[in-house]
Amino acid sequence: MASSATAPVKVTVTGAAGQIGYALLFRIASGQLLGADVPVKLSLLEIPPAIKAAEGTAMELDDCAFPLLSGIEITDDPNVAFNGTNVALLVGAMPRKAGMERGDLLGANGGIFGPQGKAINDHAADDIKVLVVGNPANTNALIAQQHAPDVPADRFTAMTRLDHNRALSQLSAKLQVPVTEIKKMTIWGNHSATQYPDLFHAEVGGKVAAEQVDSEWLKETFIPTVAKRGAAIIEARGASSAASAANAAIDHVYDWVNGTDWTSAAVVSDGSYGVPEGLISSFPVRAANGTFEIIQGLEIDAFSRERIDASVRELEEERTAVRELGLI
Ligand code: NAD
Ligand code: LMR
Repeated sequence: MASSATAPVKVTVTGAAGQIGYALLFRIASGQLLGADVPVKLSLLEIPPAIKAAEGTAMELDDCAFPLLSGIEITDDPNVAFNGTNVALLVGAMPRKAGMERGDLLGANGGIFGPQGKAINDHAADDIKVLVVGNPANTNALIAQQHAPDVPADRFTAMTRLDHNRALSQLSAKLQVPVTEIKKMTIWGNHSATQYPDLFHAEVGGKVAAEQVDSEWLKETFIPTVAKRGAAIIEARGASSAASAANAAIDHVYDWVNGTDWTSAAVVSDGSYGVPEGLISSFPVRAANGTFEIIQGLEIDAFSRERIDASVRELEEERTAVRELGLI
């Protein structure tokens, strides 16, 4: 990652004309993705019918006169968009509608991520970092990663930071504490309704969070509220989350690049915690020197084990489905 004041970092955003793209690009250009002293060059990848809208967004970016924004490229060609890219945010994909699960999007969206993975493989910078936001994010990240054999697998990640932030917010409201007092929150598994937001390792004021709430709230309110928040937002707004998703993408990449002691991210499993090797599953992670590392050594009790296993089973089913569709 170039971080000197003179070398701009190339950031590619796919689906740049979409609603998350619109919430994301201005924050990247203002320095919130990488740091307030890191110049950026934006590449906006869109499909041809949305190029004009991307051009409009680029005009607005120009009009902000961001000191850190050193250039904007707009293209419908992944080989151009990912050429020399340091950070790729794969957002472009169809969002689900009310009544759908995210996995229902596999057939519609899966086909986007193979060619993009190949273009990353062939053209991206050696230090490429990829965050997949487009749903179903974990399995789309797996598809992209499988098409990029020359890129270290750990450069492909999927976003569960929005779930992590939702869990912080729900717990903060329940215990009436600032989110900053909550440590060691973890989302395990898939970015789907099977995800497991874990309060048995989270701490508030240095004490285990699960011991500070009643177990009925934990099981019947906290877990389903976090896991089904995406659907609740679609129901309420008539469109899927956008600003909070963009915010989570900023948090994910900022921490990946700048370091953190503990957060949640879907990363390629090395077999830790019984998650089959190669699946892109959410874990507790720390980041240092631009690398995520799965936090090891946590005790997993029977309650947590059952929930992690259920979400991982779903990831295995999605992997089987994309194999059957010929996408990996
Ligand atoms: P949107 O429909 O507003 O925008 C999607 C954009 O992607 C459109 O502009 C479309 O033209 C573009 N696109 C489609 N195919 C493309 C391709 N092959 N290459 C480049 N661009 C392409 O959708 P949105 O609300 O911005 O959501 C985008 C995705 O993010 C959806 O799949 C949504 O479900 C997902 N999402 C994920 C999370 C998460 O936490 N992981 C959170 C919110 C939304
Ligand atoms: C979310 O969690 O808000 C997104 O993944 C959108 C969705 O389909 O739930």
